[in-house]
Amino acid sequence: MPSKINTPLILVNFKTYREASGDNAARLARIIEKVRRQTGVCVGLAPQFVDIAPIAQIVSAPIFAQHVDPIDGGSFTGHVLPQSIRAAGAVGTLINHSERRLRLADIDTAIQQSRKVGLTSVVCTNNQAVSAAVAALKPDMIAVEPPELIGTGVPVSQAQPRVVEDTVKAVKQMDPNIIVLCGAGITKADDVAAAMKLGTEGVLVASGVVKAKDPFKVLSRFAERLTTH
Ligand code: G3P
Repeated sequence: MPSKINTPLILVNFKTYREASGDNAARLARIIEKVRRQTGVCVGLAPQFVDIAPIAQIVSAPIFAQHVDPIDGGSFTGHVLPQSIRAAGAVGTLINHSERRLRLADIDTAIQQSRKVGLTSVVCTNNQAVSAAVAALKPDMIAVEPPELIGTGVPVSQAQPRVVEDTVKAVKQMDPNIIVLCGAGITKADDVAAAMKLGTEGVLVASGVVKAKDPFKVLSRFAERLTTH
């Protein structure tokens, strides 16, 4: 894994929220950078593809793509080449987000292609069984996110602790080096603390930060509870 990325990790997915696109993406990236520097906690961001290169010019926080295609270059119109994501300044990528699902064989290839070009892979899963299946593919990280809780403000770490706990157990049994994150509905520092208590090494979060009135305050509280849960 690139030395920029360490755990515990807060990874902020910008999705296609207007509050985190274009100029707003740069503004949020600067806030993330400030939290990272002030707290010493690793805070990463996953902006839209087109925002990766400009943001890489202004922050040193680890940047992730939201998706890559399982390809190695060639005639693939409209696809996203892992190598180009790396060249744009990202150090990692989400794979198989519930809003951008892939087939299992494609997840496997996307992990391999990402590794080949030096991108840390964070594969999203929806439950413990899928997490165990994905662990066999040996990604760098797995982020378990029950889709029904995404964007609801109902935190996975409090509403479905068994899914998180069982995912940690299943993944670590398969390969103790795979880092486990959880996400969906996380909006409060207590949700972050609960996630850490369940054995995860960080959180994947979107609306709770992107749509917050004061993302700096929210992220700073997250960072504090990440280390003092
Ligand atoms: O990738 C993170 C995401 O799917 C969780 O979304 O808005 O529930 O934090 P949210």
